[in-house]
Amino acid sequence: MDFEITVSPLAKSDIPSILEIEYDSQPEPWTEKAFLEEINRANSSVLVARLPAGDPVGAPFPGVAGYICFWSVAGEIQILNIAVRKTLRRRGIARKLIELAIRTGWEQHAGCVSLEVRKSNSAALKLYESFGFIVTGERPNYYEVQKESAILMELDISEPEQEKNREGNLPHGC
Ligand SMILES: CC(C)(COP(=O)(O)OP(=O)(O)OC[C@H]1O[C@@H](n2cnc3c(N)ncnc32)[C@H](O)[C@@H]1OP(=O)(O)O)[C@@H](O)C(=O)NCCC(=O)NCCS
Repeated sequence: MDFEITVSPLAKSDIPSILEIEYDSQPEPWTEKAFLEEINRANSSVLVARLPAGDPVGAPFPGVAGYICFWSVAGEIQILNIAVRKTLRRRGIARKLIELAIRTGWEQHAGCVSLEVRKSNSAALKLYESFGFIVTGERPNYYEVQKESAILMELDISEPEQEKNREGNLPHGC
């Protein structure tokens, strides 16, 4: 990453920026109500990546660069949403957010991280594969809008040492 970002929990004041990114990124965008519910949900984390003051990359909207929402459920981290502002993609922001979700999993002694992704979302599939997520299933016609299958993916995080050699190890589902 050619600039430093900070990451902190979602605040209500972030929601207009979050919705702008969400509507620009997702075929079935979450609503304001959905994000507010996550703020109040005990087992949910919504982390927001923020640009440093001074707008070093000339982004049109300094401030919120991206976000991730994940739940801690039954010894698992479930990633429900992740998006990065279009003008700030391929700079490692999503990678940083996923690393933080994995770290949370380690702290909570979770066994795995799981998620669902549209079959055609090659950018997201590449991102998850780069961490060692593997495909564990497929749900045909899962998404209503732009009807499409969901690919189910998992990353075993029961051995934190895997962090040291993500690409060298052969990960397995949990
Ligand atoms: C998927 C998404 C979150 C990735 O965010 P990002 O900040 O651009 O991702 P990163 O810069 O951290 O990428 C990390 C790695 O993922 C892979 N990757 C990310 N975007 C990619 C793309 N468009 N094409 C190929 N590989 C890609 C690469 O391996 C990349 O590493 P590299 O840049 O060193 O090659 C972003 O494209 C996005 O917001 N998409 C719309 C919302 C979405 O699809 N969310 C996922 C729903 S499951």
